[in-house]
Amino acid sequence: DKPELAATPPMGWMTWNYFADKINEKDIKEMADAMVSSGMVKAGYNYLMIDDGWQGGRDNRNQIIADPLKFPSGVKSLADYVHEKGIKLGIYSDAAQLTCAGYTASLNFEEQDAKTFASWGIDYLKYDYCDAPADSATAVVRYKKMADALRNSGREIALGICEWGNRKPWLWAKNAGGQLWRTTADVRDKWAALKPWKDPNDLHSIGAGIMDIVDVNADLAQYAGPGGWNDFDMLVIGLNGKKGPSGDLGGKGCSETEYQSQMSLWSIMTAPLVATNDLRIMSEATKRILLNEDVIAINQDALGKQAERKINKGNWNVFVKPLKNGDYAIAILNRGASAESLSLNWKDLGLDGSYKINDLWLHKAVGNGKKWSGRVLSHETKLFRLSSTDK
Ligand code: DGJ
Repeated sequence: DKPELAATPPMGWMTWNYFADKINEKDIKEMADAMVSSGMVKAGYNYLMIDDGWQGGRDNRNQIIADPLKFPSGVKSLADYVHEKGIKLGIYSDAAQLTCAGYTASLNFEEQDAKTFASWGIDYLKYDYCDAPADSATAVVRYKKMADALRNSGREIALGICEWGNRKPWLWAKNAGGQLWRTTADVRDKWAALKPWKDPNDLHSIGAGIMDIVDVNADLAQYAGPGGWNDFDMLVIGLNGKKGPSGDLGGKGCSETEYQSQMSLWSIMTAPLVATNDLRIMSEATKRILLNEDVIAINQDALGKQAERKINKGNWNVFVKPLKNGDYAIAILNRGASAESLSLNWKDLGLDGSYKINDLWLHKAVGNGKKWSGRVLSHETKLFRLSSTDK
């Protein structure tokens, strides 16, 4: 029996937030090398996703082609290169005539492009929605068209739907054939939007920070599960406010504590874990966060339940995620500007009984029993795994 496509949240690395469309095959090959040598692939990050900017138009048979200056050896040869390393290759298109960055897109060429992608050895398609009509009905039709084309392409290709949550894709994207669907505007390298917002659409202009994306997705837990995930957009861990070849996509960078919080929250909320930092120059701090296997295990747990936010009071957010073996993952986030102490009874989260508490960042047991008390730094997220000690 074939395992379900995206049975757990996809993991990988994507070009966009560091390179934007300033991509080329040399950098991407180096990134594939770095995915292996840094331990990313071993930790589970097994998709390398090329975002917007690879396209070079269509040839005289209307076949979509890669920009020959950026990809002189072609995408097929790049796919062979990464497959050899145990990495799957993702590519990008858009459900209109042009992509967000103005490149050739796939509307009316769905079947032809899906077949081309399959012939290159593509394993994943991010399908964007710029330059397309605003209504949901059209979006559903256009996404379904590409999903069907991929299904008939002769190769198993996962579909990431990218219409930013504007048309509530959690209600229809899985039926339309997507394995994941973006729920918000693009993530920026920052903790939170500087201006308050009511409508998530406002985040397109203000720019979404880590907290804004958590707030949108906190209400969407019921829609995620094996084969269909809320996509929180990329991990900004390790960008450190650095402007890549892309110039400045926005965001001045986060503290190490804040990046660690993003990893904790994306993991417990079963978001796809897709890094975008320059893996060739990762600091030890960045590696420590991205490569924490105990944290990744929470994200990849086979039960596939997105954590629910059980407490949202003052500066405190507490999330609970049931795990396959009967354990629970608990995230305790202090959103305030200074360190604070908290005393928490597991009963208040709906958990009866006594538990051994493992701190997944400290890598040790930090308590036993029916509660936890401790101090949480400003913008820190404690991530615990609770195992029952009752017989
Ligand atoms: C908008 C998407 O939300 C981004 O992640 C990226 O794919 C750009 N489009 C590319 O143009």
